[in-house]
Amino acid sequence: MHTHPEHPLLQSLVNTLRDITISPLTFRHTIHEITKILLYEAMRTFPMKPYTVMSWRGEQNVQRIDESEIMVVSVLRAALPMHDAVIDTLTYSVSGFLGIKRDEITHKSHLYYDRVGDCSGKTVILVDPMIATGGSLCDAIEILEKKGADKIISLNIIASPEGLGIIEERYPNIEIFIAQIDERLDENKFIIPGLGDAGDRAFNTL
Ligand code: PRP
Repeated sequence: MHTHPEHPLLQSLVNTLRDITISPLTFRHTIHEITKILLYEAMRTFPMKPYTVMSWRGEQNVQRIDESEIMVVSVLRAALPMHDAVIDTLTYSVSGFLGIKRDEITHKSHLYYDRVGDCSGKTVILVDPMIATGGSLCDAIEILEKKGADKIISLNIIASPEGLGIIEERYPNIEIFIAQIDERLDENKFIIPGLGDAGDRAFNTL
């Protein structure tokens, strides 16, 4: 299931990312801003828990999100600016990292690093800016489900229709929040029009 908030601000920010003349700093900053909007949408119906706060007039009963039940997982490395954006808001969340790289010839993804703890009892917010073939995200979801995640919410910036379709077919229960669905994949499995290599552009990797 995916949600694609069709908002001019979101579309404008995505189109900033398409401009190859922007600096890596602007690229990371724009990803950060897009992620905040996606997170806001994703948490619209998030459950709240009762909590007592010591206010200026004494104890007061309020409600809040229990951030300790949230784990933020990024797929290295292009997702790192997204990760920062989420944990800057959810300051008591737990973090995990998956290194998944797509082979440049076969286009198949492979896991090279897993630093994700036990996910039982957790809602996982999974971040990765790009869904091309969908292979990397499928691998990440499979790992998180094996580690016992209660619920998985995926925040993504650009998807191909093909990759998004594969994920939704394999994992219908995953909630995907996506800023832009692009036209297609090309013969090299790059998203068209896409952004280019988001990891390289974020960190100026040559
Ligand atoms: C990119 C991107 C996704 C993946 C999407 O990462 O950040 O993780 O490709 O492609 P897929 O849907 O076909 O699997 P990449 O493998 O280039 O790794 P990097 O971030 O280290 O460059």
